[in-house]
Amino acid sequence: MTNGPWPLQSAETMASMSIEPLLSRDYDTNPGLVHERLRARYGPVAPVDLLGVPVWFVLGYEEVLHVLQNKGAVWSKNVDRWRAYAEDRVPAEWPLLPVFQVNSSAFAEGANQNRLRAAWTKALAPYQEHSHPQAQLLDQAIRQYADDLIGVLSEGGPTGWADLAAQYARPLPLMVANRLLGFSAARGEEVVMDIWRMVDAGPDAAAAFQRLYDAMTELAAAKKRRPGEDLTSYMIEADPDLTLDELARELLMLPGLLDFTASLVCNVVVEVVSNPVVRESLSVGAIDETVNRVALLNPPMANLTFRFPLTDVKLGNYTIAAGDPVMLSVAAAHADPRFSGALDQHAIRSTRAHLAWGAGPHQCLGHRLATQITTIAVQRLFARCTRLKPALPPDQLPWRPSPFMRALRSLPVQYQLADTRVPVSREAEAPVARPSSPDEAAAPQSRSPLWSFLRGLVRAR
Ligand code: HEM
Repeated sequence: MTNGPWPLQSAETMASMSIEPLLSRDYDTNPGLVHERLRARYGPVAPVDLLGVPVWFVLGYEEVLHVLQNKGAVWSKNVDRWRAYAEDRVPAEWPLLPVFQVNSSAFAEGANQNRLRAAWTKALAPYQEHSHPQAQLLDQAIRQYADDLIGVLSEGGPTGWADLAAQYARPLPLMVANRLLGFSAARGEEVVMDIWRMVDAGPDAAAAFQRLYDAMTELAAAKKRRPGEDLTSYMIEADPDLTLDELARELLMLPGLLDFTASLVCNVVVEVVSNPVVRESLSVGAIDETVNRVALLNPPMANLTFRFPLTDVKLGNYTIAAGDPVMLSVAAAHADPRFSGALDQHAIRSTRAHLAWGAGPHQCLGHRLATQITTIAVQRLFARCTRLKPALPPDQLPWRPSPFMRALRSLPVQYQLADTRVPVSREAEAPVARPSSPDEAAAPQSRSPLWSFLRGLVRAR
């Protein structure tokens, strides 16, 4: 960490400094430039304004890793440790407040965190151990979802235009979320649509969140009565003392985590289509390496939710006061010259010492699953399409404005399907007009909300 004078600062005194807002048009289009500006001005830790709240933004690799590892238990993620929040000084309408109030394992500490992490670890194991039958069934299901989505997006013809973000990368992991949770087919489709509304944070997001919380609580109660072969039941089996409220809050993390997976899928597709060497390497099965390289260059979870020091601590060129909010930037840490400068840019295997999956006590528990979904999604797409041409150059792609994720808003491409016919599953089949009796006029079968939404995107092109 940087040596030198340690001016005592706190988020409140920061508020009186002329600090710049982190989120801006510049940040949406090129966060790397904003990071470098902050690094040049302040060093590895910079004061920033996050939607009206002063926050310490950590840009140095060593500093981010140090806080993540949390040796000496100095750092907490519990929102009650945030001094301004505890003193009621964070505006109730601050848009990110609901994220910090979820009260799930991602914000827990000590024995409670250990208990919740243990349940996740055990429940995810059948999906993340390759030889386990559940992992194999999930692989087949992901392939089928991929083929169904490609089938539907190409209903307009074997060549055409598609938005791979909306029509492929985003729905696919949400369908996986639905399968993992263990909803019935009909209920699951409504849930997928609500998940979509919630992660898009549009005007109906709050109502969607409430419906989802109720749906997760109902689901947890149903699985307690009658367990199945799904993540919800495995969590209950791992820790039968989990209450319905605890289960609902943990399960509600899943859609968001799978939306990060969607952004990884998009970022990997962009890397493959814009880099002929990578495109070539796909044929020799090097997708895993590409996924790692993309997670390093463009981490989907670009910035992490806050940590709060329990005592005054030195970090970068400042002393951070106890209870100040600190946001770790994985993306800025990966671009830190002290880290990136030491990497061999021509190495065949990119470094695994990156922080895209976090580190320390809150390290990601689902990274193998996320990698698996991404790998299959990318494999199927390039196996099914002989040609995928981006409609925009990489530096003009539109990004979703977000303080936490680096995700494309859309990924328009021109596609050409290979000649092989791959049937879609019954769920994804187009509705057909069928008379229900010889005397009745033909009426189209009812459509599922998910597939009719996706078909709407095909027509809208
Ligand atoms: C590309 C997709 C994903 C990325 C980039 C990602 C990355 C991360 C990172 C960086 C953290 C640490 C957050 C922090 O320290 O503040 C985390 C935590 C976590 N991840 Fe992932 N993750 C992804 C997908 C998943 C999936 C699919 C699952 C499970 C199905 C999962 C399960 C978890 C859990 C349970 C935690 C919380 C651990 C804790 O706080 O103790 N992640 N993830």
